[in-house]
Amino acid sequence: MKKQQSIDFARLWGYSVGFYGVWIAHIGRQMSLFDHLDASPMSIEELISITKLYPAAVRAWCSAAQAYRLIIAKNGKVQMKKQMRRILVDKTSPDYLGGQFSYLALRSLDYGAFEELFRSGKTRKTMSTLNAVQQATEWDHYAFLAAARRHKKLHQLLLTGCRLLDVGCGTGSMLDKIHKEYPKSSLVGIDTSAKAVAMARLIARGKPITIIKRPSESMKFANEFEIVFLGESLYTMKDKERVLSNCWRALKDYGTIVIMEGLLPKSKHNSAASQLIMGMQLDFALQGQMFMNKKDIILLLNNKFSKTRFEDLGGNVYLVTATKK
Ligand SMILES: C[S@@+](CC[C@H](N)C(=O)[O-])C[C@H]1O[C@@H](n2cnc3c(N)ncnc32)[C@H](O)[C@@H]1O
Repeated sequence: MKKQQSIDFARLWGYSVGFYGVWIAHIGRQMSLFDHLDASPMSIEELISITKLYPAAVRAWCSAAQAYRLIIAKNGKVQMKKQMRRILVDKTSPDYLGGQFSYLALRSLDYGAFEELFRSGKTRKTMSTLNAVQQATEWDHYAFLAAARRHKKLHQLLLTGCRLLDVGCGTGSMLDKIHKEYPKSSLVGIDTSAKAVAMARLIARGKPITIIKRPSESMKFANEFEIVFLGESLYTMKDKERVLSNCWRALKDYGTIVIMEGLLPKSKHNSAASQLIMGMQLDFALQGQMFMNKKDIILLLNNKFSKTRFEDLGGNVYLVTATKK
């Protein structure tokens, strides 16, 4: 009993430590401290002088980041280890967690709002949502590009040049990445957020990318696209059946729908990846949103699509592909 007590104590203590770990990692990214240390080892005073940041804050961050083993000190200089670079700096690495830390730090500030949610069900959009989402979805974008390269049909279509519709395209950075890798394809993005659409239009300028501001529930495309893509957007949409029916109509015969989403696991408690998505449910509930599971997706796709396939990309994020019946 005593032993179990101390195991539980250590586990719960670790949650407090983890909370600060998220902040230290996020600040290191936001203030470009990791970028500087990644470029070359340097003393803390050199880091202060290069970044021109407030010295006491940089010293505090360096000592905290060392305690959390995000950076190391060697011969009077601080630096990043190679594997930390992959996790915190290299956005194209499958191990990249940097964006997730920033998402958690930026998105979890509104603790006061939870009281209202629990007492009266009042949901709200937090101020930093767009920025937080951008940080988190970067991982998805690179994971999609890697999965597309492995997926014969998608890769061939995109390579030779096809039309792709991105439903809930946000700030358009996925479309920009697709364009860079597959310049022969022509791309259309649709989103409801005026702020996101304005940013997406800037990115799209001079490229074969069209951005439309409109809810996907009322899009009217018919028989136009080889690929319809929904990246972390279906869960936000109120009338999912209508959206998928519109996606079906937008696709050409035998076109492919691609849904990339974090899905709730079957067994919910036995891995760190599952714990993360289970915890994130609270954050989503505050925004009036819910994660789906595989069954929900199968039911939504059932009538209109065939050959539904789930590819586990890690961290409970799935790439779901299906063909227009
Ligand atoms: C989590 S963000 C994902 C953005 C983007 N797909 C990415 O991967 O970076 C979800 C996006 O869906 C958009 N959205 C939500 N409901 C929508 C709707 N009914 N029609 C079109 N877009 C919608 C939001 O404005 C937001 O930009």
